Amino acid sequence: MRDRDRFQPDAPLLARARAALAGARQVAVLTGAGMSAESGIPTFRDALTGLWSRFDPQDLASVEGFSADPARVWDWYAERREGVRRAQPNAGHKALAAWARAHPGRMCVVTQNVDDLHQRAGQPDVVRLHGDILAEQWLDESTCRQRPRCDPAAADPGRPPRCMRCGALARPGVVWFGEALPEADLARAQRVANGCDLMLVVGTSGAVWPAAGLAGRARRAGAMVVIVNPEDSEIDAQAHVLLRGTAAQVLPRLLAPA
Ligand code: OAD
Repeated sequence: MRDRDRFQPDAPLLARARAALAGARQVAVLTGAGMSAESGIPTFRDALTGLWSRFDPQDLASVEGFSADPARVWDWYAERREGVRRAQPNAGHKALAAWARAHPGRMCVVTQNVDDLHQRAGQPDVVRLHGDILAEQWLDESTCRQRPRCDPAAADPGRPPRCMRCGALARPGVVWFGEALPEADLARAQRVANGCDLMLVVGTSGAVWPAAGLAGRARRAGAMVVIVNPEDSEIDAQAHVLLRGTAAQVLPRLLAPA
């Protein structure tokens, strides 16, 4: 691991990215866990601090894992939820939101993050590909025979909560391994990638599909692709410009008014 504090984005590359941004009619932003790292929310795949270096995703992020030990999985998410609630948007979230508000209708953020930091920073248009960790949904919608269906918010507060009327188990509202992404959100993200002039990719390893495919999709459709990441990612080959630095370091400089 290199010393991230010493990173300064290369000035000519930053200037090139700023020029592309100034000329772009539509800007798509794809964010991953690195976007929220400086808000204190751990990433998944960073070697020492990433969640998946300490926990097995099969145990904690799959229907099978949840079914095997619902209380353990529920508690793990409860702890992560507390971390999200305590966290605050960082300078990177704020810079994106300020740019979007100054250029109405020109920026859409497509995020893989299940936190709500883009929203709390005031980002107007956010597509959530992997769900919302603060939300709850039923493990199995089909167990509910009530009409209209029971509301997960009305479940008893067990670990995990269980519906008092139909007995269904609640689970966190995130997409787990092996599950499809929300169809309408993925379709919107693909349209945004197809239609942008500039795609800014921030803080993702590019290891998880279909989100990782959005950068290549934008590039094939003619967009310039700028990646902000202090480390290599699996989609670096899609980038026209690689800005080596963290979200909170690079985005305020990239997005500041001229
Ligand atoms: P990863 O943990 O795979 O990757 C995080 C990326 O952020 C890495 O490329 C880091 O180098 C980079 N990074 C770390 N700190 C950064 C900083 N301060 N600024 C900018 N970049 C930084 O996270 P994702 O790519 O988001 O799925 O992972 C994709 C999905 O895998 C997640 O959405 C999650 C996980 O399983 C679900 O929750 C469904």
